[in-house]
Amino acid sequence: MIEIVKPALEHLPSYKAALERGWSPDNVRLLEATREQLEAIERDPVAFLASLDDPQAKGPPIALPDGTTVPRLPGFRRWIWDGEAAGSIGLRWQKGTSALPPHVLGHIGYAVVPWKEGRGYATEALRLMLDEARAVGLDHVEITTDLDNPASQKVILANGGILVGRFAKVAAYGGAESLRFRIDL
Ligand SMILES: CC(C)(COP(=O)(O)OP(=O)(O)OC[C@H]1O[C@@H](n2cnc3c(N)ncnc32)[C@H](O)[C@@H]1OP(=O)(O)O)[C@@H](O)C(=O)NCCC(=O)NCCS
Repeated sequence: MIEIVKPALEHLPSYKAALERGWSPDNVRLLEATREQLEAIERDPVAFLASLDDPQAKGPPIALPDGTTVPRLPGFRRWIWDGEAAGSIGLRWQKGTSALPPHVLGHIGYAVVPWKEGRGYATEALRLMLDEARAVGLDHVEITTDLDNPASQKVILANGGILVGRFAKVAAYGGAESLRFRIDL
């Protein structure tokens, strides 16, 4: 089975190898993010690891796919770990509320490396991340998926997710229709 680990130097060689195999931990920016992360690891591994754990939102603003920048929310990333890097899962939130700004596509996002898909890893990682979400004070989380992502929809439903409805992503993300789920904590 898996655990979700706070990214540390001991995990880095395996994580870097997954990036080098062409996996992306970022479902929106895909290979651009893979390249950026490999460069950041090369430049300063310790700073890279620190950037993944930012519960006070100290990091720089976030650039949306259309180039708009928005303030960074508090958040952190955990690596899905089965003895090797198996994926990545992130949590972000607004201080003092369970609501999210309209440009934020859910509290939690995740990606499993393709060579370890279908083993229940994402389902278990989300279950573990819900404990972290409770611990930062959220009373529910929203998770969004594309209509053509049944695997992710199953992961959410297996964790008690309820379909809230369809919505159109903000223009900065291209405006496509998407599904919003809610999990009460
Ligand atoms: C979505 C993703 C995270 C799932 O990871 P995973 O570890 O393989 O997920 P799990 O094994 O926990 O569960 C996947 C479920 O979807 C099912 N599934 C997988 N592919 C499917 C498909 N094409 N159609 C329908 N169901 C599918 C699996 O059978 C499993 O269901 P089960 O528990 O009833 O057997 C992984 O495929 C991924 O990283 N995809 C790319 C990034 C992404 O889409 N992230 C989510 C964005 S919201």
